Amino acid sequence: MNLFDVYPLFNLTPVRGEGAYIYDEKGTKYLDLYGGHAVISVGHSHPHYVKQIQKQASELVFYSNSVLNPLQVELAKKLGTLSGCKNYQLFLCNSGAEANENALKLASFQTGKTKVIAFKKAFHGRTSAAVNTTDKESIKAPINKTFEVEFHKWNNLETVEESVAKGDVCAVILEGIQGIGGIHVPSPKFLEELAVLRDKYGFVLILDEIQSGYGRSGKFFAFQYANIEPDLITMAKGMGNGFPIAGVLIHPKFKPTYGLLGTTFGGNHLACTAGLAVLEIIEKENLLENAETMGYYLRQGLKEIPEIKEIRGLGLMTGIEFDFPIKNLRTQLLFEEKIFTGSSSNPNVLRILPPLNIEKAALDFFIKKLKTVLENKRTTIEKITVG
Ligand SMILES: Cc1ncc(COP(=O)(O)O)c(C=O)c1O
Repeated sequence: MNLFDVYPLFNLTPVRGEGAYIYDEKGTKYLDLYGGHAVISVGHSHPHYVKQIQKQASELVFYSNSVLNPLQVELAKKLGTLSGCKNYQLFLCNSGAEANENALKLASFQTGKTKVIAFKKAFHGRTSAAVNTTDKESIKAPINKTFEVEFHKWNNLETVEESVAKGDVCAVILEGIQGIGGIHVPSPKFLEELAVLRDKYGFVLILDEIQSGYGRSGKFFAFQYANIEPDLITMAKGMGNGFPIAGVLIHPKFKPTYGLLGTTFGGNHLACTAGLAVLEIIEKENLLENAETMGYYLRQGLKEIPEIKEIRGLGLMTGIEFDFPIKNLRTQLLFEEKIFTGSSSNPNVLRILPPLNIEKAALDFFIKKLKTVLENKRTTIEKITVG
């Protein structure tokens, strides 16, 4: 049987990971500044994470959501404390798209409406409702386009009020920091005014923190740079450091009823153990603080590089924009300098998403190697021009 060939692949086979590094089958070491799309939060194979998962796997991997599961309660408690969102309720599921799917569903249950407002360059996942709120037509099948979605300008409320004032909007969904779109940080004013509109017109405000959450921005959730209280907050990626687990934080104004939401695998014993281990490491190693300081350090270092047009981001979520496509640069960094970086929907933007416990030396190494690759590019261009 062949695999359904939907992924363009790098010719690289990682077989082992440790901290901020992965190793291929020949033992070659790569610095991982991407964490497989922002998933690696506490580093590859962190000893505490490995120990907890091994122990849980030997006891009980799974039982369904029809029995008591104290690990879910413990996870909710710890997540409430570390995130500062103690009064929210937690619904556990398995992936980012599923978290957004459930959030959109809750918004529609609550308001009885279907129209959604999202933003240009947004990415919210590939399942039915989530993909319809994603700003990329080519990944939507006709079956996904069952409700109206408007895409408004990012960081700009001019057209949003006019739309929500019509009274038919069920939800406004936006990323805490736009990730795949090329790292775009919302201004606190934009978020705060959006919350004012929510209070005035009664739609549900969904913060997609799937990429920007779990400490990546230097705060637990990126929206916490503003003074707002979202109605629903979705999370995934860093939550399990590679083990599939996701969740929706649900404001107390939403009342649960039996059967309203559900999943077979969501919140299983092994997933909760992975989620708890991640939170324990984030707390013990002060990773929010490290994300803030190391992110600042990285962006300061990058400022010395003349080829860079713009540096955007917060914490360890950084976008580096050039005035040329980064495809070759990224390949050279990977195969010549052994550094994994990310791309984005903007062909000129490199996305840097290291583990939250990255150290200065690794960032220095990256800056040095980025300079080398850019210098080689400059020399080649000069040779071609002169020649
Ligand atoms: C902001 C955001 N939302 C949702 C998703 C979808 O998550 P998943 O791939 O786990 O379904 C992603 C994935 O990249 C994302 O970055």
